[in-house]
Amino acid sequence: MDLKIVDNYSEMSEIAANTVAGLVQSKQAAVLGLATGSTPEGMYARLVEIYREGAIDFNSVKTFNLDEYVGLAPEHPQSYHQYMNKHLFDHVNIKPNNTSIPYCSSNDDPAVVCAEFENKIKQAGGIDLQVLGIGVNGHVGFNEPASHLRTTTHLVELAEETIEANSRFFNTVDEVPGKAITMGMGSIMGARKVILLASGKNKAKAVRSSFSGLISTETPASLLQLHREVMVVVDREAASLL
Ligand code: F6R
Repeated sequence: MDLKIVDNYSEMSEIAANTVAGLVQSKQAAVLGLATGSTPEGMYARLVEIYREGAIDFNSVKTFNLDEYVGLAPEHPQSYHQYMNKHLFDHVNIKPNNTSIPYCSSNDDPAVVCAEFENKIKQAGGIDLQVLGIGVNGHVGFNEPASHLRTTTHLVELAEETIEANSRFFNTVDEVPGKAITMGMGSIMGARKVILLASGKNKAKAVRSSFSGLISTETPASLLQLHREVMVVVDREAASLL
């Protein structure tokens, strides 16, 4: 595991954007695994700048997002579809058909949605680089702490802490959907390279329990210690309990 402790959020974002950009420069048809949330916003902003400078081309890039709320229409302002449009897709030359987010309406069969999503990743040749944030409870994607974790893309009930943490994006906590589709730990571990980002004091506990040498399904991010090529980029505050 390559652990980088950096001074602040902007340094973390810069390293993350350069890692993604470096991959896209060396492999035109790169397959990216992407995360949403506050953490990667700076990375996306920097990537858009790098794109505008003419240094990267998204024409052949494919992307797979880690997760999405169930029952939230792609047009909903808090959907991860809108997040991705706002922070990346609307600003670069990526082909909409090359972007995949696991969408499941309340009428869809989640098992079918999940199987199709996994299949699409396989057909794309697997993920070259997976970008991850980390939840305050150590979740990655929406793989919540539990006695057992699922390997592939699946339907999940969100933990109370996650609903609480994500309610900052909604008007009230009751508006936060209780279910989501997420890639499983196996889908994430299957990426050829993983970069996990963490910033701020509220992530310090999760960072400590994830990267201090023990592995537990009660801290899903800790499983990443078993990945052969994982880079963890944390700022000083997030690293303060290491
Ligand atoms: C989002 C995701 C989540 C977030 C995590 C941290 O696609 O998969 O695991 O990475 O909840 O969220 P922020 O960055 O908002 O603190």
